[in-house]
Amino acid sequence: MKRVLSGIQPTGRLHLGNLIGAVENWVNLQQGHECYFFIADYHALSTAYAETGDLKDNVKQVAIDLLSAGLTPEKAVIFKQSDVPEHAELHLLFSMITPLPWLERVPTYKSKIEELKEKDLGTYGFLGYPVLQAADILIYRADLVPVGEDQLPHLELTREIARRFNYLYQPVFPEPKSALTRFPVLPGTDGRKMSKSYQNTIAISDSPEVIRKKVGIMVTDPARVKRGDAGHPEVCPAYQYYKVFAKERADIVAKECRTAARGCVACKKELAQLLIDYLAPVHRARKELEKDHKILDRVLQDGAERARRAAAATLLDAKRAIGLS
Ligand code: TRP
Ligand code: SF4
Repeated sequence: MKRVLSGIQPTGRLHLGNLIGAVENWVNLQQGHECYFFIADYHALSTAYAETGDLKDNVKQVAIDLLSAGLTPEKAVIFKQSDVPEHAELHLLFSMITPLPWLERVPTYKSKIEELKEKDLGTYGFLGYPVLQAADILIYRADLVPVGEDQLPHLELTREIARRFNYLYQPVFPEPKSALTRFPVLPGTDGRKMSKSYQNTIAISDSPEVIRKKVGIMVTDPARVKRGDAGHPEVCPAYQYYKVFAKERADIVAKECRTAARGCVACKKELAQLLIDYLAPVHRARKELEKDHKILDRVLQDGAERARRAAAATLLDAKRAIGLS
């Protein structure tokens, strides 16, 4: 069985973009693969080191989101990164052999610093972000890493670090492959990419009332000023949602939009209900988990124990190869 690993940063509650872009893919991979999925709280510190007040709750909310979206400890090892300190130790070993220019040329490095100008990201830890990610992946000797396109440079660097380690010492680390999640980027309620930083998200834990409100103010085809104006579904965010969440309705919606047989208000009302129905099982699962916090604690504790067993074995091999053990 191929070993799959992926992680997600605890930046707050997961939204529909995370669900269709990553988590649903993880849920599917649980079938037929040995899976490790974790909440990357160390990585969150690389940008949020100065504001950790929300960290604990964010980790908890993401854990609830992951489980209610269908990850299950029966099929996957689900854990929190900082519960497995072996990640940090392997990161240290990798930091010794990773040339600085490799890190400086990672495209996300400069772009993220630009994007988050208000933060001081001139830190050692931020530059080393991809080294930690390489440790996350290689400590489980993962074969497949499901990620979005933006993460491909990190995967490439992971392979380079594995090669360098194997060359300098002994072959310990297989080179992982990416499993690209090809999915149309889900627009947020304002039509831009759905992202926490744009405040245009629909959280998977949003209540039906909140979903109705957010979908109600979602932008549509700007050319449709009057009810009788013909629409262009291809430029309308609401239509993108139909294509993702209710494929069987998309053709009819597009036709009725183009002929103005359908108005935007009714169209979005239908969409809101579709999303509410789509998320109903997720909401039911969340309610159960919120009722009994011990379930969540147990899942993460058990996940950390299983992850540590696998991680400790690899770390020992790495230390032996170097001559530390
Ligand atoms: N960098 C990833 C992101 O921001 C999160 C992550 C951390 C990750 N470690 C990982 C993803 C290991 C895959 C494998 O999305
Ligand atoms: Fe978008 Fe629907 Fe309005 Fe057409 S009718 S522009 S698809 S919201």
